[in-house]
Amino acid sequence: PLVTTKEMFKKAAEGKYAIGAFNVNNMEIIQGIVEAAKEEQAPLILQVSAGARKYAKHIYLIKLVEAALEDSGDLPIALHLDHGEDFEICKACIDGGFTSVMIDGSRLPFEENIALTKKVVEYAHERGVVVEAELGKLAGIEDNVKVAEHEAVFTDPDQAAEFVERTGVDSLAVAIGTSHGAYKFKGEPRLDFERLQRIVEKLPKDFPIVLHGASSVLPEFVEMCNKYGGNIPGAKGVPEDMLRKAAELGVRKINIDTDLRLAMTAAIRKHLFEHPDHFDPRQYLKDGREAIKEMVKHKLRNVLGCSGKA
Ligand code: G3H
Ligand code: 13P
Ligand code: ZN
Repeated sequence: PLVTTKEMFKKAAEGKYAIGAFNVNNMEIIQGIVEAAKEEQAPLILQVSAGARKYAKHIYLIKLVEAALEDSGDLPIALHLDHGEDFEICKACIDGGFTSVMIDGSRLPFEENIALTKKVVEYAHERGVVVEAELGKLAGIEDNVKVAEHEAVFTDPDQAAEFVERTGVDSLAVAIGTSHGAYKFKGEPRLDFERLQRIVEKLPKDFPIVLHGASSVLPEFVEMCNKYGGNIPGAKGVPEDMLRKAAELGVRKINIDTDLRLAMTAAIRKHLFEHPDHFDPRQYLKDGREAIKEMVKHKLRNVLGCSGKA
């Protein structure tokens, strides 16, 4: 059934695991993810960005998610707006059937972020919808960037506590060194776990923390892309061990989009390379969907630890 993330996060805190939040943009992506969650019996967050709504249209995505819900029996699935930038898009999604929205005021000064988040929380909570907010700016730890600059962009633990208290938000995305996309680190991957620990200590007990930019940019898919005609040298993500550690410390929602894109593209590139005579989209999209399914199963089982928790 369609659920909010409340119960999922509560159980995840008890079991010290994380829920996967996967970005959806079309039918094959949704089907691949949902098949994986069904087979793993894992609670699931399907998330939709403004870009996804623009690409596929709100109504198509909603109908695909409705189909997924009907097709997946008792599996708990939350439908979440990813990176809502203003009140209006959050309202549209709350009114339009989402059970969770993110209001991303991370670009705003502290007080403005609080005011905007509060406004969304008020509207959402009256309608039984939960809200994620973000404090700090996503940026990787580069070897040549001074500590003082990190202080400015990474989430401040005291501010995080004040933010949660004053907004009444249900979960908080933090900046500890991850970033969006396929090029997260120039040098060795590093996250500020010490900061994460201090954030956890300052927030209310078991408060759900969200990690954006959490794709691992699996070398297997980067190599496959490059081998079959792609050109994405130097792509690098968050090692899966670091995600396990984050879940251990208190991260309850792990956002994954880039790994879906890479899995699908790698499989499609390989298919078209090996079958230059194919032109029926079902032939290569099937491989893309299958690659997504296997990758998501691996994440749920071996990284997030939420298999069998549905
Ligand atoms: O946060 C970024 C997600 O990967 C969504 O990306 O805005 O291109 O859909 P998008
Ligand atoms: P990735 O680019 O690491 O997959 O991050 C996705 C994300 O944070 C969506 O909000
Ligand atoms: Zn994000």
